[in-house]
Amino acid sequence: MGASLSYPEVDLAGKVAIVTGGNTGIGYETGKALARMGARVILACRSEERATEAIAKMRSELAEAKPVSGEDISVEFMALDLSSLASARDFAKAYLARRLPLHLLILNAGIAMINPLQLTDDGLEKQFQVNYLGHLLIVLLLLELLSANGPDVRVVSVSSSGHQFANFDLTNINGSKSYSRVTFYGNSKLYQIMMTYYLQKRLLNSEMCFSSVHPGVVKTEIARGHEDSIILTAFSKISNGIGAARSPEKGAATTINAAVNPAFANKKALYFEDCKPVAPRRAARNEIHHEELWAYSIKLLRKYIDDDCAAKLTDMGLTISPSAASLDQQDD
Ligand SMILES: NC(=O)c1ccc[n+]([C@@H]2O[C@H](COP(=O)([O-])OP(=O)(O)OC[C@H]3O[C@@H](n4cnc5c(N)ncnc54)[C@H](OP(=O)(O)O)[C@@H]3O)[C@@H](O)[C@H]2O)c1
Repeated sequence: MGASLSYPEVDLAGKVAIVTGGNTGIGYETGKALARMGARVILACRSEERATEAIAKMRSELAEAKPVSGEDISVEFMALDLSSLASARDFAKAYLARRLPLHLLILNAGIAMINPLQLTDDGLEKQFQVNYLGHLLIVLLLLELLSANGPDVRVVSVSSSGHQFANFDLTNINGSKSYSRVTFYGNSKLYQIMMTYYLQKRLLNSEMCFSSVHPGVVKTEIARGHEDSIILTAFSKISNGIGAARSPEKGAATTINAAVNPAFANKKALYFEDCKPVAPRRAARNEIHHEELWAYSIKLLRKYIDDDCAAKLTDMGLTISPSAASLDQQDD
């Protein structure tokens, strides 16, 4: 028997949502549903062309929809390439410059099981940066805004049950010692869940709710570029053949439920599968690893966070090291 995948219809008029990677797959269906419920939706994507096509497709698919029809949905594109930390910072800055509120931040964009090992222009393993680190930078730069938009503000990370294949090892972040596409994908998904717990625990007086989800096995474009992969091709054939893979619409249900279900308002640090809160693997709850991951991540991100923002994050309960510039001043 299949899982029951549903979410309540809620009125999102007046709410603003960002969906990263909202031009296709799970992100597309998430953005479409939020827009249909009345939210103003920003699709944060790397291709304006693909995002514009997606918005046109949403309008056409929602032509007769209620409460908001395709003609009336509010969906727009903003540029974001998560494989560049500068792009992630510029996206957040551009968003802040628009002086819009923000109520829902859906960290959905992702890549899976990249092979062979690829490094970004920032010199980091690509899955680590796209799935985890770039998203963390966006959260940190938008945190003050999110905290000002309570009481029901939610940040949802689209992780994966693939975090069970992770092997937490901060000494091999770039695969210089060894590389396995499955382990590195699992690591990036584990780190997403860990940050959910860490931020929720550290942020003082916060009404924001951080959660993470596994969407199920979903028939999307996630395996593109892996046509040569025996594992993925076999997996895809088997799951599609026996109907185990979900449609993107069903795959988005768990994200949407975590984002809008009033039953989860003020329920913090949940991890969802099949639209229900469940426990992730124990590795995700290792608090020593949370601290280590935070320290490691913030070192990589510090130069993208200006001192004013860092001071605000510190006031909110996060430990941010001084910037090189402020250390120089202290030395004087
Ligand atoms: N499908 C599954 O079975 C499954 C299972 C577990 C978890 N997930 C997770 O679900 C999330 C959505 O995946 P999906 O299955 O919907 O895959 P998808 O159809 O491939 O969609 C992925 C989205 O991420 C975007 N993206 C990729 N690299 C990016 C970058 N550097 N910067 C900005 N955006 C980028 C893609 O943009 P482009 O269109 O421009 O490439 C696309 O919009 C991912 O985080 C994935 O790990 C999926």
